[in-house]
Amino acid sequence: MARAAGQLMKRVLMVPPQHFTVTYSINPWMGGVVDKSKAFTQWNALKKAIEDEGVEVLTLDQSPSLPDMVFVCNSGLVHKDKVYLSRFAHKERTGEQEHYLKWFKANGFKTFGEDYPEKFEGGGDAVFSDPDTLWAGYGARSSKTVYDKVSQLGDFEVVRCELVGDKFYHLDTCFAPIDDKAALWYPPAFSKNTQEEILRRLPHSIAVSDEEAKAFVCNAITVRKAVLSPIGVSQKTRSSLAERGFKVVEIDMSEFMKSGGACQCLILRL
Ligand code: ARG
Repeated sequence: MARAAGQLMKRVLMVPPQHFTVTYSINPWMGGVVDKSKAFTQWNALKKAIEDEGVEVLTLDQSPSLPDMVFVCNSGLVHKDKVYLSRFAHKERTGEQEHYLKWFKANGFKTFGEDYPEKFEGGGDAVFSDPDTLWAGYGARSSKTVYDKVSQLGDFEVVRCELVGDKFYHLDTCFAPIDDKAALWYPPAFSKNTQEEILRRLPHSIAVSDEEAKAFVCNAITVRKAVLSPIGVSQKTRSSLAERGFKVVEIDMSEFMKSGGACQCLILRL
């Protein structure tokens, strides 16, 4: 049986929030004033929680003119030594692409997708639950057909997931793989067909409440036997995760949620 992605996580990339602010609005959650020092404290807490699980954290400096670059998860999709680069849906973020391309090249990755016009926001929409299965969100930020190209990264199955509505605009805002039978997810964010497909493949999936979804509980990182999530996990969800052998580590992500992002958006799996 394929091993869950969280078991295999060895290295991630993060961008310290040196120049993180909210200066434009490209998703329904964006607004408010970022407390810079609080953002740093929260980012460091997340980094430490990841390191505590034995994962190595590499860092890339943020460009002063690109406030959303902290959400490095959107830089591309990494598979072994290859990366399929993002093509951002909004012009506000396209400036990030050249910095990521440079980093991937400097760090020995074979790069794909840089000349391809279809929108694709990397790890925000495309998540491996195990090395053989890619969950591929499409809707606001990534196109459905881009995955015909992304699938050329390797030999894995692609499960296309239709996102509906504007609130849960990336797959990782409403879906986090847990193990080979379950994900943490928010069903209303998906079309009927996709809901059925998720339950068919991951029958023990744990559906979160509206309140938890709004707290971005699904924007969680599974690593080893821990689920690192923003604050707001209910007792019910906690028990369901405990039954599957997972502990919950909550991290305050209030500053990043002012930009519509949290734990999972701040890391890129390498
Ligand atoms: N403000 C950013 C945007 O709208 C947040 C990105 C969050 N990233 C994620 N993987 N969900 O693009």
